[in-house]
Amino acid sequence: QEGDAAAGATVFKKCAVCHNIDSDKQKVGPSLQGVIGRQPGTAAGFKYSKAMTDFGAGKVWDEALLTTYLADPRGVVKGTKMAFPGLKDPKDVANVIAYVKTFSPA
Ligand code: HEM
Repeated sequence: QEGDAAAGATVFKKCAVCHNIDSDKQKVGPSLQGVIGRQPGTAAGFKYSKAMTDFGAGKVWDEALLTTYLADPRGVVKGTKMAFPGLKDPKDVANVIAYVKTFSPA
């Protein structure tokens, strides 16, 4: 179901340690500006793990793929260098995706 972007902004504080979303500047993690609709592992100027670029072949980040990834990043992308255990509460996942969506056109 649809998430709540305002609630997602609070959840995103956990992500903001490593990710920008209101700019395309890379941090420890790639910028998530415009990530929805983008092929995994392709933000310009970010050095991804081989695991992430291999995972991304033929895929696009959409709500369904983000939902599985954010629940268990290291289970879904084995060998990813995203050192984050994932979000346990499915509501947090839906809400943070709704927030991330507001920074992705179309
Ligand atoms: C990659 C989301 C938390 C570090 C990614 C990607 C997404 C994402 C969608 C893939 C981006 C792409 O393909 O361009 C999130 C969200 C988070 C979160 C929504 C919070 C719920 C974190 C945290 C860290 C982190 C806390 C640092 C401790 C990274 C790194 C990558 C990455 C290093 C690249 C992974 C690789 O190349 O294997 N993240 N992330 N993320 N994230 Fe996160």
